[in-house]
Amino acid sequence: MIKVLLIYFSATGITRYFASLIQERMEVNGYQVDLLNLEELTDLTVLWQKKPVALPYTIRAEIKRPLSKYPWPYLTLQEALNTVNESSVLKKLEDEWADYDLVGFGSPVYGFRPAPVMIRFLLDLPKFKNSKKVFSFATHDGAQGDFENFARQVLTGKGFEYVGHLDQSFVYSASTIMMKKFDLLSAGRLLVRKSALARQRINFFIKYLDNILMDVPDAYRITNPLSIVFGLPYRFLYSFGIDILLNHFLFGFGIHKEKCIQCMTCVMQCPQGLIELDEDSYPIRLYHCMYCLRCLNWCPTDALYFSRLTDGKARFPGPEVLLEAANQDDMASRLKTF
Ligand SMILES: Cc1cc2nc3c(=O)[nH]c(=O)nc-3n(C[C@H](O)[C@H](O)[C@H](O)COP(=O)(O)O)c2cc1C
Ligand code: SF4
Ligand code: SF4
Repeated sequence: MIKVLLIYFSATGITRYFASLIQERMEVNGYQVDLLNLEELTDLTVLWQKKPVALPYTIRAEIKRPLSKYPWPYLTLQEALNTVNESSVLKKLEDEWADYDLVGFGSPVYGFRPAPVMIRFLLDLPKFKNSKKVFSFATHDGAQGDFENFARQVLTGKGFEYVGHLDQSFVYSASTIMMKKFDLLSAGRLLVRKSALARQRINFFIKYLDNILMDVPDAYRITNPLSIVFGLPYRFLYSFGIDILLNHFLFGFGIHKEKCIQCMTCVMQCPQGLIELDEDSYPIRLYHCMYCLRCLNWCPTDALYFSRLTDGKARFPGPEVLLEAANQDDMASRLKTF
């Protein structure tokens, strides 16, 4: 039986959900699949605070104005790639993963690349003595840009045998925080529709994996030629848009103290451990972050905001809540074709 390990980082739950769909389809096809949340595998706070990697738009914003209590000496991606430093803590993984025929690394797309904590983790992985087959998977809002290329480069650089990439856009969880309200039922229906699409794509990918894992020579890749033709102008426009949006409207970390109930949810949820309490026991962000939006989305009283654009706006409650709303709904049930 083919054994697969799926390791993922997920800030607001979509990539976790995608990983569980991949697991479900693979198990139907006779694979044995384990899921592993990156946050359970390694202490991201330590990983991040020792060697933070920032994406270009974060660096530009940090240079323009101090966004954190202690602005930080962070590494650009290129610097990080040039100074790859294996972590001794992760060395044990070579033995722990020895039984797996295939390992998948999954992350949301941030700025056309994997989320910075996933990048940092990949860079810190030890070089395994025996080559292992790996693939990447991603969730995004429609523009994954360099994700696949980047993952391929890092993973092959680490000596892995990179066999492919799988991605899916689900609901626009990142832009929810700019909407006046977020309609759970329509979003739930969309998630159900996208899940059916995702299952089809995963099935297709599994056929491809079957060929690879059983050494069938005429294995095919999933590449849509249209994405090459239309991808470039779209990426350019999108990158321009996302840079302006994040730099001018989204960056910051603000709190309405009168709304804050000092529950510590934001402190505990930040994957990079960047939020602490100030002398009055209100949360404060210490260093620059990757803007994963988890603190913002998970705050139970909407006390946090990142700019006026997000203030008093909707929050993304996670895929489970949307699926629950869709479960009460006949139309969505009819769409569940698998
Ligand atoms: C800081 C940030 C940057 C993002 N950049 C992109 C991007 O470049 N392209 C894109 O399609 N989606 C982008 N997104 C959207 C996420 O990739 C998408 O919402 C993802 O499914 C979230 O996954 P998660 O719930 O597992 O965290 C971005 C989201 C955030 C928070
Ligand atoms: S401070 Fe908030 S947005 Fe930044 S990394 Fe932490 S949880 Fe994510
Ligand atoms: S999650 Fe919200 S209410 Fe709780 S401590 Fe943080 S800002 Fe305050």
